[in-house]
Amino acid sequence: MIQILENFSLKSYNTFGLNAVARYFAPFNSKESLVEILSTDIFARSQRLILGGGSNILFLKDFNGIVVHPENKGIEIIKENASTSLVRVAAGEEWDDFVLWAVNNNLAGVENLSHIPGCVGAAPVQNIGAYGVEAKDVIHEVTIFDFKKNRFDILNKDQLHFSYRDSVFKHEFKDACIVVDVVFELSKKHVYNVSYKGLDSKLKECAIVNLQTIRNSIIEIRNEKLPDPKIQGNAGSFFKNPVVEEEDYLRLSEIFDDIVAYKLDNRTYKIAAGWLIDTLGWKGKYHRDAAVHDKQALVLVNKGNATGVDILQLSKNIQDDVFSKFSIILEPEVLFV
Ligand code: EPU
Repeated sequence: MIQILENFSLKSYNTFGLNAVARYFAPFNSKESLVEILSTDIFARSQRLILGGGSNILFLKDFNGIVVHPENKGIEIIKENASTSLVRVAAGEEWDDFVLWAVNNNLAGVENLSHIPGCVGAAPVQNIGAYGVEAKDVIHEVTIFDFKKNRFDILNKDQLHFSYRDSVFKHEFKDACIVVDVVFELSKKHVYNVSYKGLDSKLKECAIVNLQTIRNSIIEIRNEKLPDPKIQGNAGSFFKNPVVEEEDYLRLSEIFDDIVAYKLDNRTYKIAAGWLIDTLGWKGKYHRDAAVHDKQALVLVNKGNATGVDILQLSKNIQDDVFSKFSIILEPEVLFV
């Protein structure tokens, strides 16, 4: 039995805490209820938005269409051998509940992705990443409902075209499917990825290094730097870290000898956008109720009554400043609706 709610406030469905109203809101908790929603007239004639945890979205106004929201649950091992387990996780599971489950079951691969807000269905779309690990490193396949073929389908790793905060879901499959579940390949033989600056030193404070202490350390680091969206609305990093050609990096590093950048290959460097914004003195600055977080310049926060347009304006001011001082274009990581 499905329910399609009308004129539904999305305030508690986006981590910026913006009060956008959806014309229709349709949660689903099973494949059957999803199919029912997709076969309604409302779905056929409306603009569509798939909304998971709303942790990477900026509503600029009300949404005059149908929001489809995964609430399906389930985490199960579907296959295993001596070294790995394939784990199917429903799109509507909270991402961090899955990480906790993996750690409690002594399965490695996602511990560095502890405490990322949002739901599992968003992980492949965005190729979420933190502390040296990306979702692409552990995703085996994704079950989708393909709106064009009008049936469920499976996309394997090679079809997902993952790159930095990017996947097929932002291109060929944009607005053309919904993620139903994700199969992860987790490891029984643990290889820890603890070289990220800050994580290594945090772990030295622990008596042993294991999945649980890595998870705890990452939660501590995140809590030190990132605002809790339950307390202060935000969507994590607002911009992507820009990738520039070597000559641009060399030009900048001659002027700014403390620039923070990571070499990707012989021709390109990824620059820490947080450093660019911070260097220009933006931490704590605001436009109306939209502000730059005072501990991590890459995060924009809602101080209480910001609108999406306020946050957008602040982000544009930052982009203009970064462009005029560094000649670098900052691309938003969050999706504007
Ligand atoms: N930095 C500053 N000032 C700042 C922020 C950062 O100087 O205000 C410099 C510092 O030197 C720091 C470096 O930039 O060492 C990198 O900062 P941080 O380690 O906080 O990571 P980030 O590049 O800002 C990325 C992801 C985060 C992820 C962290 C940790 C992107 C866009 N963001 O941030 O992901 O948690 O690395 O791995 O790639 C998200 O996507 O929402 C997110 C939070």
